[in-house]
Amino acid sequence: MQVLVTGGAGYIGSHTVVELLQAGHSVVVVDNLCNGSEVALQRIEKITGQSVRFIRADIRDRQAMDGVFSRHDIETVIHFAGLKAVGESVSRPLDYYENNFYGTLVLCQAMEAAGVRRLVFSSSATVYGEEAPVPYVETMPRGTTSNPYGTSKAMVEKLLEDLVSANARWSVVLLRYFNPIGAHPSGWLGECPQGIPNNLMPFIAQVAVGRRERLSIFGDDYPTADGTCERDYLHVVDLALGHLKALPAVLEPGVSIYNLGTGQGVSVLAMVNSFMRVTGVDVPYLITSRRAGDLPAFWADAGKARRKLGWTAERGLDDMLMDTWRWQCKNPYGYR
Ligand code: NAD
Ligand code: UD1
Repeated sequence: MQVLVTGGAGYIGSHTVVELLQAGHSVVVVDNLCNGSEVALQRIEKITGQSVRFIRADIRDRQAMDGVFSRHDIETVIHFAGLKAVGESVSRPLDYYENNFYGTLVLCQAMEAAGVRRLVFSSSATVYGEEAPVPYVETMPRGTTSNPYGTSKAMVEKLLEDLVSANARWSVVLLRYFNPIGAHPSGWLGECPQGIPNNLMPFIAQVAVGRRERLSIFGDDYPTADGTCERDYLHVVDLALGHLKALPAVLEPGVSIYNLGTGQGVSVLAMVNSFMRVTGVDVPYLITSRRAGDLPAFWADAGKARRKLGWTAERGLDDMLMDTWRWQCKNPYGYR
């Protein structure tokens, strides 16, 4: 299948392009490189031995997107491109709505004009909102999102549902990711956050490699077993493989929603302790106050993806941590 991957030079996109190429699919990447790297694309070529067709373009640029669809015979779009920093979305909401919502709208307009109506969208567990009981199940309604990033994801989900209701020729798969971590086992691809990482795993890795003094654990007074928050961490390669498993689903008309997670919550303290055990490297930490907006604990009901897509997250926590560490050691400053 010929697949257009938007955001293919980013963290999850680059891992997905590797799996697509290795499974024999043909791939075109569109990325504006605002948070992705051409080095990642070169590394994909090194891992797969195949060349990547790359177009540096912005999904908000209708003319550029029309050009992509006219020059390439695209059958399906896997849409990763967007902005993802929760804190930044609070201070720059217009950028988040423009990139994530308007960008998807323009992409869909270009797809409609080209007659390409199959889309796999990167959504997030954040759309379940603050009050949802755990585990999160796809049958639950979207809840109240607490920041523009989360709201932009919920808005795109609604936009795509409306599009499918209006035109039965569209088929859309909404993949709700839990917490992707880890890196390609080769150590050539991984997460490359700009500035101070917001997320737990890159922060732990940067402390371990000596780039940061210590980790702040945001609160140990949550109603969980050890008092720190619990999340459903999954290996980015498993997540990438989830997209391959979703490709047959996008051949069927309508909208389908799948959680991609392991179904298990792991606490922040357990993450730190496991990282130290697996790598043998010390990670100094300090317990600090809670981070605004954090939920105590959530994880996926991963049953639907297993039953309908035949997908389960197979890589365990030790693999996630070891692969993160290999990537961090080989690339202490990421792709820079
Ligand atoms: P990333 O920032 O590494 O990758 C996104 C890519 O999209 C980057 O390469 C960036 O340059 C590109 N991009 C951004 N705006 C663009 C635009 N307007 N036009 C063209 N390219 C553009 O992020 P990621 O972690 O790989 O996430 C991929 C997708 O998955 C995002 O939509 C994100 O919101 C979603 N998601 C990520 C997580 C996570 O924890 N990483 C969790 C849930 C959902
Ligand atoms: C965050 C976002 C979520 C987004 C996801 C992926 C918030 C509130 N949520 O999820 O919307 O989809 O990233 O981009 O930002 N932690 C520390 N110290 C740190 C960093 C994190 O203790 O330096 C803790 C957090 O309090 C949390 C856990 O580690 O309990 C995981 O944090 P993080 O990796 O940021 O992911 P989420 O908060 O689950």
